[in-house]
This record gives sequence, structure tokens and C-alpha cells, in this order.
Amino acid sequence: MRAKKNVNKKGISVAVINHGCKLNQFEGEALENGFRMAGFNVVNKKDGGKPDITIVNTCTVTNKSDRKSRNSINRAITAKKRQGLVIVTGCYAETNSEEFDKKDGVDLVIGNKIKAALPSIVLSYLYHLPFNENVNDLSFQFDSPQKPNRSRVFVKVQDGCSMRCSYCKVPFARGKSRSRNYEDIVDYVKTVVRNGYKEIILTGVNLGDYLYNNVNLPRLIDLLLGCERPFRIRLSSIEPFNFDDNLHDVIGNTRVAPHFHIPLQSGSDRILKLMNRPYSAQSYLDMVRRIREERPESHIATDIIVGFPTESKKDFLETIEVMRSACFASAHVFKYSVRKGTKAADLKDDVPYDEKVTRSNNVIALRDELNHQYRKSYLGKIREAVFEEHGGSWTGITDNYIRVKIVKGQPLSLEDLSKNILPVKINEVSREVNTGVIIGED
Ligand code: 5AD
Ligand code: SF4
Repeated sequence: MRAKKNVNKKGISVAVINHGCKLNQFEGEALENGFRMAGFNVVNKKDGGKPDITIVNTCTVTNKSDRKSRNSINRAITAKKRQGLVIVTGCYAETNSEEFDKKDGVDLVIGNKIKAALPSIVLSYLYHLPFNENVNDLSFQFDSPQKPNRSRVFVKVQDGCSMRCSYCKVPFARGKSRSRNYEDIVDYVKTVVRNGYKEIILTGVNLGDYLYNNVNLPRLIDLLLGCERPFRIRLSSIEPFNFDDNLHDVIGNTRVAPHFHIPLQSGSDRILKLMNRPYSAQSYLDMVRRIREERPESHIATDIIVGFPTESKKDFLETIEVMRSACFASAHVFKYSVRKGTKAADLKDDVPYDEKVTRSNNVIALRDELNHQYRKSYLGKIREAVFEEHGGSWTGITDNYIRVKIVKGQPLSLEDLSKNILPVKINEVSREVNTGVIIGED
């Protein structure tokens, strides 16, 4: 679709297909906004949009993520218009660029560091202008995503990871840990809060590692809480070894949502050691107990990997035990997947696939049971919620991360609902869904 100089960009449609974690989704949505600002017409493939340019924002955390990303790329190539473009970006593009450089039908492969510049890269490409790929790290240059009827906004404050968990490919995809200037973060948060957002979700690849000029994560949270208008802060994933005394102190503030995602990975000390994770099952449980002393209502979420090399039945049962003791409110469950270049790839992947499936199913069943119990314990209770519209119906998201379908009509104007924190009473909890009413409106 090499455009002529005087092309009307409004006429060129772009779709972004996102894979992977919340951070990657955020970046993809921010890209959509960047394209919109640059004058392109952003379409959604799910709504039947037939884009001129498809951007596949890939993930490579497991083999399954690779496969899903490749499927999206292949579908985009099949649907490509005669003069269309297929662009591959994100983590898989960063780590396996040669694979995509060689692939017929892929027009551009863009790594993570310059991904934020994609709108200008595409413009340069269309107009046959040079683009200097040796620009500085653009990891924090993403436009804010703009979606109507939203009350929560992701704020990317950190990228990369300097840890070396033996199974993990993410450091190759995201680079060393680096943090965004806290002054920029405070300014940005002030702006979005002024625009009515009521929940700020601090996000990074390894958020607990945030450090900019001696300002660490607890200090950053303090600075943000110093900003005037009412809003609450939610933290994305934090590693257990980053949960220090200062962080324990700061989460005592009720404006920090009592919802903490802390990857356990395994409940076996032997496996944790092989994973190169510097904590024990007991120290993890001590940390959980301390969080619950500070905030008893805490929704504690986790990540679990089953079938790591040499994981015995006994190791696995230790994971189950720790899950029960920690009373996780939710969990992401992964089957171990060999990632080339990692330390664990040197170990024999010796847990048979069928056994991984069985262990994963057991963990998922326990996870669902614990999740239901957690939600049931809030039946009849009132929690502060922010609201989002999905397909015409409104969902409240409570501070302790229970999604509540609002059943009573539309009590307030849409504008009020999307830009307020309001108390919600949880009236019904089933395995699938929670329903409730806004207090004061029933
Ligand atoms: N195999 C399975 N799961 C993995 N994760 C990361 N690397 C692997 C791998 N090689 C999971 C971890 C991490 C989450 C983002 O992905 O649980 O916390
Ligand atoms: Fe996937 Fe990790 Fe990249 Fe997120 S940071 S998209 S989980 S590989």
C-alpha cells in the first residue's frame, strides 16, 4: 500500500492484535491511540473491520504464546489486501526477529524498544522516508489509550527485568530493568486524574524493582498519594522478594487497592531453587500473613508453573499445600514450557506432557474453588467500586478485585458512573458471576 505523498491517512485503516500480559495489552491499546492521533482510521478486527495495516503485538512467554502469535500473523497474511501491510512487533518479534524477517507476507518487524514509534515508522515507510532505528529507548513513550466509559488507566512505570529466573525468556524480550522518571509519572497521573480517572494501575515487567534516582516503589506510591484529587492505586504483579518493609508499610494506606499479584511459581523449596527464585515457601507464606494483618480483605493472586524439570508428585503436592495455606483469590496457571537460551533449557524436560496436563487441571480446580470461596466471603458486603461498560452492561470492579455485574437499571448518568468510586453491595455470587447494586440507588 505504498501511499502517494498526498494520501489521506484517514482513509488508511489499522488494526492492532494484542497477545500476552496486561503490559503488552496496554502498549497495544496505546499504539492504537498513537495511530488515531497520526490520522489513521483504527478498526477492530473482531467487529469485522478489514484493515489495510495489521499490527500483531506478540508474546513469547511460553510455546503456547508463540503459537497463538504465529496464528494471528498467518491469519493477517491470509487476509492481507493486495497493497496491505502486516507488521510484527512485541516480545516474540524482539527475540526471534530473523524468523519473521524471512517470513513471506511480513512487511516489517519492529522490536520492543522502538515499538512506541510505530505510527511514525509506518508513516516513514508509506512515504519512502528514512527512519532512524537507533533512536533512544522509547519504552515509556506510549500515548495513553483512550477508551470511552473507562475509569481505570494503566500507567507504565517500569520495563525489563534483571532477574534470571531459570525458565524465563522475558528478560531477553524486555531487556534490563529500567524505570521511568517519577516526576513524569506524577505529572501524567495528575493529568489523567484531572480527566476523571479514578483508578491508576501501576504497571511494569518487574514493578517491585522500580527505582529512579533513589525513589523506589514505596516512595513513588507515597508521592502519588500526595496528589490531591481522589483516586486509588492498584499495583500489578510484584515479586515476593521485592515485598520489603517499606512496601508492607505503604500498602497499609486504604487508597492502595487491597489486591496483590505475587507470583509463587512453586511451593517446593527444591524447585524454587532450581528456578533461581530467592525465597522459600515458608517465607512466602509469612509475607502473605503479614499482608493480611495489614489488609485482611486482600485479594492475593499468583502465578503457578506446573511440570518444571524434575518436579515430583511430592513437589507438586507442596505447591497445592501452599496454595491452600495462602488462600489465593486467583491464579494464572502455566505448564512449564522450554524456552531456548534459558538456564532451565539445559535441564531435561522430564515431566511427561500428560502429567503436566493432569497437574495443571488439579491446580485450576483448586484455584477455582478458592476463588469461589473468596468471592462468597463478600456476599452481602459493601465494597468501593469503579465502573466500566462492556457491551451495554455495567460492571463494578471493587477495591479487592471482585467484578460485580450491576443489576439495577442505570441509576446514574453514564458520565457519573464511569468517573466515580461508589459503594456496591454484592448480592449474589455464583461460580461464574457476581451481581450487585450501587448503594444509595436501590
Ligand atoms: N514456562 C511456563 N510458564 C512460564 N512463565 C514464564 N516463563 C515460563 C515458562 N518457560 C510464567 C510465569 C510468569 C508468567 C508471566 O509466565 O508464571 O510469572
Ligand atoms: Fe509475554 Fe512477557 Fe512480553 Fe508480557 S512481557 S508480552 S508476558 S513475553
